[in-house]
Amino acid sequence: MPNKVRAAITGVQGWVPEDRLTNADLEKLVDTNDEWITSRTGIKERRILRTPGWATSDMAAEAVKGLLAKTNTTPGEIDLLIVATVTADMVFPDTANTVCDKIGAKNAFGYDINAACSGFLYALATGSQFVANETYKKVVVVGADMMSSIVDYQDRNTCVIFGDGAAAVLLEPRRDGTGIQDFVLRGDGAGREFLHMKAGGSKRPPSAETVAHREHFVYQDGKRVFKFAVEGMVSTVQEILRRNHKTIDEINWVVPHQANMRIISSVAEHLHFPMEKVMLNIQKYGNTTAATLGLCLWEYEDQLNKGDNIVLTAFGGGFTWGALYLKWAL
Ligand code: UT7
Repeated sequence: MPNKVRAAITGVQGWVPEDRLTNADLEKLVDTNDEWITSRTGIKERRILRTPGWATSDMAAEAVKGLLAKTNTTPGEIDLLIVATVTADMVFPDTANTVCDKIGAKNAFGYDINAACSGFLYALATGSQFVANETYKKVVVVGADMMSSIVDYQDRNTCVIFGDGAAAVLLEPRRDGTGIQDFVLRGDGAGREFLHMKAGGSKRPPSAETVAHREHFVYQDGKRVFKFAVEGMVSTVQEILRRNHKTIDEINWVVPHQANMRIISSVAEHLHFPMEKVMLNIQKYGNTTAATLGLCLWEYEDQLNKGDNIVLTAFGGGFTWGALYLKWAL
């Protein structure tokens, strides 16, 4: 009996801007210091997109171009391209179609998924379905966010956390047992109170007043989000392990959303999972929202072996959260 078709990650590529915003730089902008930022978040620096005229789609396009070169794929072969982002180039059209245009993916259709920091997880799960049910052979999933476009650099509660970046994966069918095995996705819209952007949407369209009140930036009740983030990631990882008859000892890597080093270590502690096997890049990039998970896979790719059991988990605005279990295919 041949194995069933699963969507496998057959390539991963990240892209981050060159410009760095260090903790020392932030000390000049707001009342903060390296000691506070490092001990409370684990972040040392973030990348900021400063190329004139560039936006989220340009970072995404760079990541996808690198992915195509690495996997010997032509743009015309892509069937579907999904972009997870909260910083779309424009309110409409969607960023995915812009990315398709910029990379010359003439045969693809695309759409955006807005699930904040869980965006990559939601997009990976969604894209995998088209491959697993054999509708499409090549699906590209991108997580990309230019958080610097929606961060208030006068607000020390949020400006120390976020950075810019993009990461893309190629999903292709595999029958060898590798690939995406299962996912648990959750949401609770009541959480919007604690993490949102106040204006710019249909609820509160842009006006001189919304600009004057600095309502076009990320608002976060950090303490509240912290608590839900730990609970949400731990419970969905535990659920996915249970469902797949796996113990935590059988997992080779946990890839957590990079929002705060203390959240990550708390999740690892609750799961009784060693930090040496937790992927980390928060110290270099901060919280890149939809890009964190893909950037982790990209940077740890050399350390991964075919068949490795990997669990991705994230928590973000919405609230949205979840866990995804895959067997590494490369
Ligand atoms: O990715 C999407 C999901 N987001 C998250 O998962 C983020 C979750 N939350 C967090 O990561 C943390 O809550 C933060 C990093 C945002 C904040 O850390 P905290 O330990 O929860 O600090 P806090 O908000 O309770 O603030 C403690 C103190 C406050 O001063 P007082 O009121 O005790 O005098 C803040 O004003 O630290 C102050 N503070 C700062 N001090 C220096 C807040 N930000 C800063 C800062 N530098 N940048």
